[in-house]
Amino acid sequence: MLPDSFLQELIAKNDIESVVSAYVSLKRRGRNLVGLCPFHGEKTPSFNLYPETSSFYCFGCGAGGDVITFIRRIENLSYMDAVRLLADRAGMAIPEQDRDDAGAKRRMRILEANREAARLFNKFLYLPGGREGLEYYYSRGYTDAIIRRFGLGYAPQSFDFVRDNLRKKGFHDEELVLAWLCARNKSGNGVHDIFRNRVMIPIIDVRGNVIAFGGRVLDDSKPKYLNSGDTMVFKKTNNLFALNFAKQSKQESLILCEGYMDVIALHQAGFTNAVAALGTSFTAEHARLMSRYSDEAILIFDADAAGKKGAQRAINLLRETGMRIRLVSIPDGKDPDEFIKKNGAERFKLLVERAANDVEYQLMELGSRHLLDTSEGKVNYLREAVQLLAGLTDPLERDVYISRLAHDLSVSKEALQERLKYQLERRKKVQQEKQITQVVQRSEATRKVVNAEAAKHLRAANAEESLLGLLLLNPDYFGKIEPILKTEELVTTFNRTLYEKLLQRYRAGAAVELSVLAEEYDPDEMAYITGMLRDSRERGTTLSVDDAVQYARVIKKEHQLLALKEPSALTPEEIQEKLKLMRDMKS
Ligand code: GTP
Ligand code: MN
Repeated sequence: MLPDSFLQELIAKNDIESVVSAYVSLKRRGRNLVGLCPFHGEKTPSFNLYPETSSFYCFGCGAGGDVITFIRRIENLSYMDAVRLLADRAGMAIPEQDRDDAGAKRRMRILEANREAARLFNKFLYLPGGREGLEYYYSRGYTDAIIRRFGLGYAPQSFDFVRDNLRKKGFHDEELVLAWLCARNKSGNGVHDIFRNRVMIPIIDVRGNVIAFGGRVLDDSKPKYLNSGDTMVFKKTNNLFALNFAKQSKQESLILCEGYMDVIALHQAGFTNAVAALGTSFTAEHARLMSRYSDEAILIFDADAAGKKGAQRAINLLRETGMRIRLVSIPDGKDPDEFIKKNGAERFKLLVERAANDVEYQLMELGSRHLLDTSEGKVNYLREAVQLLAGLTDPLERDVYISRLAHDLSVSKEALQERLKYQLERRKKVQQEKQITQVVQRSEATRKVVNAEAAKHLRAANAEESLLGLLLLNPDYFGKIEPILKTEELVTTFNRTLYEKLLQRYRAGAAVELSVLAEEYDPDEMAYITGMLRDSRERGTTLSVDDAVQYARVIKKEHQLLALKEPSALTPEEIQEKLKLMRDMKS
């Protein structure tokens, strides 16, 4: 546990407005600030920042919390790592006692185990037993220099190679399992290596930690690739292979390709800005990660159906980050690795330089699906093309392509503009409707995850949330609420625990605010709690201690009603009394 005084200083020195500004471009609106939410794609701002309570909340996706929660989510860090980042930012030292935070220690051991394993695989490559692996790399045209740079290695056909060597270095079986290097034996006793007879590619994060491995078979057997599963230090939807190198590359763009073998080949050929997702399809997190390091993405996907689908997916996700996008199509359906091997790096460079932007690419794709020499095909193509252009946010960009379409297909620009106007209006309407349902659904979804009981006790939960929100904004209201509302009277467990926590803090004269909760509550829970603040705030700042008392009364009543539901345990007199109570409540 970190001391309150430390957390308060941390929050004070990391003004939420300046922290968030590094990731979100914010505009002032009244006392608050708004911007495009960095946690989901959107075109109209629903991300709100509340300097007064040092909190944020997105009405679009329901993300919310304090500055620590923000950093946790956007940098994909644990609570302690987020605190560390903010402490570094403010030039503060972390108090001693938490250094032995159990989770952090665990993660450290996993990273150490991974590093040792990477060393082991790499060293083995140059021993007689590893000859096969080395030959494989050579056969793909990899040099010793690139093998060293990427720390490539080889795992022999053995069930105990990693296990025995890492045991010798002091690692426990449990740590090897957590690192996804070993799996438990079926018998339940002992563990064995997961990666066997594969060339091994370490996955390294932007901080230089070995966080996972990819392993490829040396022949045509299946599965071709085996990648580490998610662990405490690795989430495959959040990491890109070779980003550690690419972010240092002087190029102003990032090349995204499908396979990590392609990435290595590209780096060897001098394209040190290449990255790839790891054995998973491209995600919104990947897109966000890329946009943090560059303004332009160059996509290289295979020319087959799966590749086209992947490219379209990546285009949509990258568009939402505001990155410029270009696409390289490789002739003859080759992948970059094969193309470079056959035609050389210079030819590849030409392909990259001539890459079409995403709109051109999508129009081309669309064109290839229609018979443009028939009137019907032309009309259908134009309809779909205009629909595509209606998705562009920049009017200038739309105009350029409308003009080009009109020219290329010899139709009037006015007719296309008419059609575009119709599409834009339709889109706007659909989007507004979507947004409204989203706001409702998202906050319902958060509530469902964090406080499932709320659905059963709606009235009580609503009052609890409003009351807790008010208490977080005005801890002095406890003075009036404490004598009225006993902890056990809160109906839902989550809210009861929260009330108890806040009350204890109030009694001890400690801080009652969001920032002291981030350590115990995960980002979803923080979003739920921040939602309570938001509700009290939205209804205006005029809510007073009397409103708090009203909420407390509602909670008490709901609690009593609930107690009534088990009449079997009551004496006749008690039943009479409860009936009277119920009558009173109804009036
Ligand atoms: P090479 O045959 O080694 O040149 O591979 P490639 O890079 O051409 O591979 P491919 O296009 O088949 O796959 C691209 C990416 O998809 C790989 O880098 C992996 O991340 C993933 N992938 C392919 N096959 C498998 C598989 O069998 N299992 C898993 N988990 N991922 C795979
Ligand atoms: Mn390949």
